[in-house]
Amino acid sequence: MIVLGIESSCDETAVAVLEGNKVRASTVASQDEVHARFGGVVPELASRKHLEMIIPLVRSALNKADLSMSDVDGVAVTNAPGLIGALLVGLSAAKGIAYALDVPIVGVNHLEGHLNAVHLETDDVPYPHVGLVVSGGHTSLYHVRAFGDYELMGSTRDDAAGEAYDKVAKLMDLGYPGGPIIDRLAGMGDETAFSFTKPKFDGETLDFSFSGIKTAVMLEVRKIQKENRFNDDFKRDMAASFQRTVVHILCDRLFEAAAKINAKAVVVSGGVAANKGLRKELEKRAKTAGIPCYIPAIKLCTDNASMIAYVGARRLANGERSDMTLNAVANQEIGV
Ligand code: KG4
Ligand code: ZN
Repeated sequence: MIVLGIESSCDETAVAVLEGNKVRASTVASQDEVHARFGGVVPELASRKHLEMIIPLVRSALNKADLSMSDVDGVAVTNAPGLIGALLVGLSAAKGIAYALDVPIVGVNHLEGHLNAVHLETDDVPYPHVGLVVSGGHTSLYHVRAFGDYELMGSTRDDAAGEAYDKVAKLMDLGYPGGPIIDRLAGMGDETAFSFTKPKFDGETLDFSFSGIKTAVMLEVRKIQKENRFNDDFKRDMAASFQRTVVHILCDRLFEAAAKINAKAVVVSGGVAANKGLRKELEKRAKTAGIPCYIPAIKLCTDNASMIAYVGARRLANGERSDMTLNAVANQEIGV
């Protein structure tokens, strides 16, 4: 079965062609350049760029897969969560294609896509496992019992980890998106230069919080600027110290969750899973915990349509279908 996957929930337009479990083609058009000068995603500009790119990307994905439109047996499209205007572009394109070809369409939750991206690389991820989705919009832990059987164990109470990276980068005038830039600088700085108190919560929880650290960085940056010491050395040390704190918070919670459910593995995905410091620390912690840690290749961690096509293909194979009233939803958790 050939499934066309379409993703446009935020600032990446993406189209993939999946045959069974094999990605025949995957195209991604990043809008980083469009949003960089604003230091964050501007929703209306995102929608307009998706509109421009979506059909050319469908064409180029089919070309790369050496297929034509008539070979498509089903369409999988992200319909939640995300920016409404952005989602509507991909959703409308997907509906048009499914209607014209008279093939089934299925709506896919973007978070479920991230959670399952790993299956495009390996068949052996054991259940139950803990899945951590860590991106620009989400930081959530799931108890994954089987495909489609998720329970939310914890999530952020304020900023997502990627959002904190982007905001901290903005505070230090580093550019957008901030994650990869801070990651690179962190490798050159002293991670013990600054210390941040980890967030405290009342009672037992697996939730996250990153806004306190962001504020602490802001106060330190202001102080250093007043003292005329806002230079490259400071930026490197701050990047390294911030990264170390975020990585530790993420790893602490992930392995607490794994112990709680006696997980046979942990799986990490989403844009922040591309982080070098996080990948290294995860490997170390997994060894200590004695369970495997799966982190997909970077192109499967950041937003892509292969993961959407994968989830959609499994749903279509189960006989699930959406109808032409399928709508876009801005906020939709899974496993609640
Ligand atoms: O999953 P994704 O591509 O889009 C969302 O669904 O949000 O994640 C984008 C986020 C951005 O906040 C970006 O700064 C962050 O992932 N990111 C990183 C790295 N690469 C991307 N954060 C930390 N380190 C990285 N290497
Ligand atoms: Zn994402």
